[in-house]
Amino acid sequence: MCIHLNSLHAVLVNGFVCKDPKVVTAEDFFLAAKLDMPRDTKISKVGSNVTLINVMKIAGLNTLGISLARIDYAPLGENPPHTHPRATEILTVLEGTLYVGFVTSNPENKLFSKELRKGDVFVFPQGLIHFQFNPNPYKPAVAIAALSSQNPGAITIANAVFGSKPMISDDVLAKAFQVEKKTVDWLQAQFWADNHN
Ligand SMILES: *[C@@H]1O[C@H](CO)[C@@H](O)[C@H](O)[C@H]1NC(C)=O
Repeated sequence: MCIHLNSLHAVLVNGFVCKDPKVVTAEDFFLAAKLDMPRDTKISKVGSNVTLINVMKIAGLNTLGISLARIDYAPLGENPPHTHPRATEILTVLEGTLYVGFVTSNPENKLFSKELRKGDVFVFPQGLIHFQFNPNPYKPAVAIAALSSQNPGAITIANAVFGSKPMISDDVLAKAFQVEKKTVDWLQAQFWADNHN
């Protein structure tokens, strides 16, 4: 057990300092996360809201290799293409339907996709680019995902490529995406906000 502690003068285990086991309490493994409550999906332009419960939220998760997320989708909302560098994800639909998929690595870049209904489960293997989209124009959707890391990390592809600070040179991106530089400039001028909390 290594309950993470904010202190400068101690040994780091898996990125965090361990709290003295004698002073660890049930609170170190607990969070009143209200995961039964719907989240606001109108703030993010992509129409989704990811509430991630990782080691930053529950110190007791440190070294245990697991975390949890509630994901709310507006009608026609999506969790845009992204990857978790340190975790495989297993997702279940609690409400609504979701069109989900992941793409394998080069050279195949094969899409594995599926329309999920309430109660269905789907797996996104570690490191692969994946997404979830709510195809229903009237009803929201909700999913719960478990991830095989206490700190899975998330890289949203569009944000990393077009929303980096400072920006990647438009010469680089124009060639990479085989488009004109003004198309890249337009994309880079957009506001690339994260849908995570
Ligand atoms: C997610 O929902 C919460 C609560 O409804 C809200 O406070 C937060 O700003 C939302 N976050 C995003 C990224 O939309």
